[in-house]
Amino acid sequence: MITCSAPGKIYLFGEHAVVYGESAICCAVELRTKVHVEKSNDILIESTLGTTGIDYEIHPYVSYAIEKMQRLTDITGVRIRIESEIPVGSGLGSSAAVTVASIQALNHLYECGLSLEDIARTGHEIEKMVQGNASPTDTYVSTMGGVVMIPQRKQLPLLKCPIVIGNTNQFSSTKELVGNVANLRSEFPTIIESILFNIGQMSMIAEKFVHEGDYMTIGKLMNVNQGLLDAIGVGSAELSSLVYAARNSGAICAKITGAGGGGCIISLADDNTAMTIAKAIEDAGGEAIITKNTEEGVRLEPLNG
Ligand code: PMV
Repeated sequence: MITCSAPGKIYLFGEHAVVYGESAICCAVELRTKVHVEKSNDILIESTLGTTGIDYEIHPYVSYAIEKMQRLTDITGVRIRIESEIPVGSGLGSSAAVTVASIQALNHLYECGLSLEDIARTGHEIEKMVQGNASPTDTYVSTMGGVVMIPQRKQLPLLKCPIVIGNTNQFSSTKELVGNVANLRSEFPTIIESILFNIGQMSMIAEKFVHEGDYMTIGKLMNVNQGLLDAIGVGSAELSSLVYAARNSGAICAKITGAGGGGCIISLADDNTAMTIAKAIEDAGGEAIITKNTEEGVRLEPLNG
């Protein structure tokens, strides 16, 4: 049996602006999806969603991963088991992680020789097939790991502080939110374009502080980024409630991560405040996860992993 895992991701800066070619800073977080694969008589995919064969409704990402790999090698029977720590549909990149981990697990099992670049590209093709449109960010960050400036694909140093995620557990449709921003931009081009430009500038300015490990200044900028996300209409009462719960309980900063509308917020903490912030998020009705960023993208797990 082979086991591979891949991480989820958060946006420190730049969601929505990146759709218009501006810069963003994303990082992989230590919440992983594990995919176990072994050769078998039939094709079987097992997850909390159920046990199926190739099934584009229930297991679309894994089914397309098998289909793609069948172009490279003869896959007639394989058992695939998925275990995930990444909440589904919350903007933390769960679909990219399962896709990337599945491709890499099959790549190892059948010795196909795909490079990380191949895996990131194939993963993005699969996300586009399932979602109609998808940015390459999630699959790239999940494959490569680390803190990544996009679209430049530049690796930045890791943040050493704890990251507390607050999940509203409310559904967020990236497609719908991206569409809403596009409509607002058509209605008020001068205003919205300058906000998106300024969000992009924030990533450029923050790069230096990420290099210096200056979390207070990174935090100040992330809070400004949050204000601009609210300005373009991707906030919600629940997201704001978690943002303020985190900030008022000692977080360095707090902002939405990803498309907004629902989904998650992230906050930067220190070792003394992470638990307090997590509790404040829970008291405000969210689900808290304390994590950190990771330089490890998709990886082969040890045999008993
Ligand atoms: O919520 P997510 O993880 O799907 O992130 C969406 C990020 C956007 O910038 C809003 C859209 C995109 O494709 O980059």
